[in-house]
Amino acid sequence: MADSTTKVALLGCGRIAGHHLRSIAAIDGVRIVAACDLVEEKAKAYGQQYNIAWFTNYHRMLQELPEIDVVAIITPSGMHFEHCMDVMRRYRKHLIVEKPTFMHPQQLHDAYDWAERNSLRIFPVFQNRHNKAVQRVKKAIDGGELGDIRVVAVRVRWCRPQSYYNLAPWRGTYSHDGGCLANQGIHHIDLLRYLGGEVGRLTAAMQTLGADIEVEDTAVASLTYRDGAVGVVEVTTAARPNDFEASLSIVASKGLAQLGGIAVNELQIFTPNPDACTQSSEKFPDAYGFGHTDVYRNIVADLSGRGTFPIDRLDCLNSLKLLHAFYRSHEEGQWVDVQTSSSSDRLGRPDENISRLYRTPVPETAAVRSAQ
Ligand SMILES: NC(=O)c1ccc[n+]([C@@H]2O[C@H](COP(=O)([O-])OP(=O)(O)OC[C@H]3O[C@@H](n4cnc5c(N)ncnc54)[C@H](O)[C@@H]3O)[C@@H](O)[C@H]2O)c1
Repeated sequence: MADSTTKVALLGCGRIAGHHLRSIAAIDGVRIVAACDLVEEKAKAYGQQYNIAWFTNYHRMLQELPEIDVVAIITPSGMHFEHCMDVMRRYRKHLIVEKPTFMHPQQLHDAYDWAERNSLRIFPVFQNRHNKAVQRVKKAIDGGELGDIRVVAVRVRWCRPQSYYNLAPWRGTYSHDGGCLANQGIHHIDLLRYLGGEVGRLTAAMQTLGADIEVEDTAVASLTYRDGAVGVVEVTTAARPNDFEASLSIVASKGLAQLGGIAVNELQIFTPNPDACTQSSEKFPDAYGFGHTDVYRNIVADLSGRGTFPIDRLDCLNSLKLLHAFYRSHEEGQWVDVQTSSSSDRLGRPDENISRLYRTPVPETAAVRSAQ
């Protein structure tokens, strides 16, 4: 009988890789078959822990293991596009792409165009959408329990000291990372529109206050939704000494929903039904949460024809356009329309000096020795 299990390989074994591995291990219908990192110790550590093949060259991984169905692209953000295109073009694999997915809307269009022409799927990771508190509030909005949305407020107060940015050359750069909005705040920017609807216009101010980096570690913004609601955003990684909160509140015509905790994981106030607060709150051990498990569940359902992955091209594009609008507003010093074809000049700009650190040459098969 044919093996219908979805076989996943990790491309990148950094800080978030463990969450992918634990999520895959926790559910049926999906199996991890290989892990690859440029740094041998990282790939080997996961290889040994999960008893899977490990590699330092992803071409070798994909050439040796043709059974791989999906490659999880969890390399530096500014490499997602290049790695995605290479894996699709050469090896025709479906892709899981970590947030912020692509650095630039044009990259997103190019990747989806290619995927769609070749019947490949792209699965973006915005795992906070799956938090119980977020799902409960989404249900309340869609079902009319909260009424019309009037004000949406986001507050992220996390701590990323200089030592965090010093971990790798891609961190804290406009080309490969972006600042607190593109890296940490992207989850909440995505939730701004997942829960609140499409944003029409915004104005943003940004500063770098707590680290010696080129990107912002602090941003505040005001915004107006297309349907008339307003929003306010405060995101910083210059909080000290710890991560404090990632909160989102919604003032609506029939009540108030306030989500808080370290990563919008607690429903703290829900006036239409206060009992929902206990039922829909989770304790998270860290800011990553548990949502990757649901992401993988949805991938399995999608690939087996039992469901459709909930984030499609337009949904992903709109979150990326919204992200760019914050940077654009700061660059232009004025209110900007979110839905235009323009993008930030800084976010996702090319930097070959960094990209070349993360490129993998195609091996001449005969000349390459196994890393295992
Ligand atoms: N969903 C979330 O909550 C979440 C949390 C953290 C990070 N992320 C995202 O995941 C991505 C990785 O972040 P991280 O914190 O794990 O970064 P990291 O720097 O810790 O890990 C990236 C890894 O990719 C490896 N790599 C780079 N190029 C490679 C190549 N060509 N072949 C093999 N390996 C390669 C690096 O050696 C490194 O180990 C980023 O896009 C980030 O935004 C998402």
